[in-house]
Amino acid sequence: MADEYIASNKQLWDNWTLLHEKSDFYDVAGFKAGRDTLNPTEVEEVGDVAGKSLLHLQCHFGMDTLSWARHGAKVTGTDLSETAIDLARALASELGIEANFVCANLYDLPAALQGQFDIIYTSGGALWWLPDIAGWGKVIGHFLKPGGVFYVRDQHPAAMAFEEVDGRLQPLYPYWQPREPLKFDTHGSYASAADYHFVEYGWTHSLGEIINALTAQGLHIEFLHEWPHLFFKMFPSMEQDEQGHWWLPGRSTSIPMSFSLRAVRH
Ligand SMILES: C[S@@+](CC[C@H](N)C(=O)[O-])C[C@H]1O[C@@H](n2cnc3c(N)ncnc32)[C@H](O)[C@@H]1O
Repeated sequence: MADEYIASNKQLWDNWTLLHEKSDFYDVAGFKAGRDTLNPTEVEEVGDVAGKSLLHLQCHFGMDTLSWARHGAKVTGTDLSETAIDLARALASELGIEANFVCANLYDLPAALQGQFDIIYTSGGALWWLPDIAGWGKVIGHFLKPGGVFYVRDQHPAAMAFEEVDGRLQPLYPYWQPREPLKFDTHGSYASAADYHFVEYGWTHSLGEIINALTAQGLHIEFLHEWPHLFFKMFPSMEQDEQGHWWLPGRSTSIPMSFSLRAVRH
């Protein structure tokens, strides 16, 4: 069962949240001073959110959720980590931003939250943590209003099949959803070099599995964009550009690094 892996990941994320709150990567002070944490591509691709209800899946400690509220959305953020949700609520209260935050395993969310939403949004390293991508689609199908918009921007599954070994990318991981999770020893996190060691469990999902999880719920794909850059340094040899995007050396476009997808429910 995936429950034991999700329980272990919850512990990891509770501890990572404490590291991330203090990290330069998340720059909480800048956010409090008014910095928009949303990626400009996401803002453009999601479109106008003013006055719309927005459900943010896997919101971590809520800075993106609260940024959507600053853009005018009526926001609900949800996450597995209690520490993250406590921090999200504290930030909302300190900044006087109206927001609802719910702590739940994604698969248990239909029992923990009422209502349907105009927009469902998720991004920035979310899908890797999910054991069942078809089940993820069902949660989106449950919460999306007729006529509503679903948007995801995440790591591209093709890139996730690779590991960098001695400066070269090698295909060491499954492209399709594995039965058992992949297990990694963590040292610090993607946002912190702190001396914290734990394990993380994750699952890859092919692009086809992701799309079929959505179309099975009656969603119509408006676009799927594949990008040659990423929002964090996934491989040691990656280089950052002026806009903060991470690229393979020489701005290689040999494999896609991230994707964004927008779908609507008719
Ligand atoms: C990389 S973060 C999301 C990224 C977010 N854009 C950010 O950087 O702030 C992944 C989030 O997924 C959450 N998560 C992991 N497994 C989950 C699950 N089974 N249900 C709900 N949330 C989960 C974690 O607690 C974490 O906050």
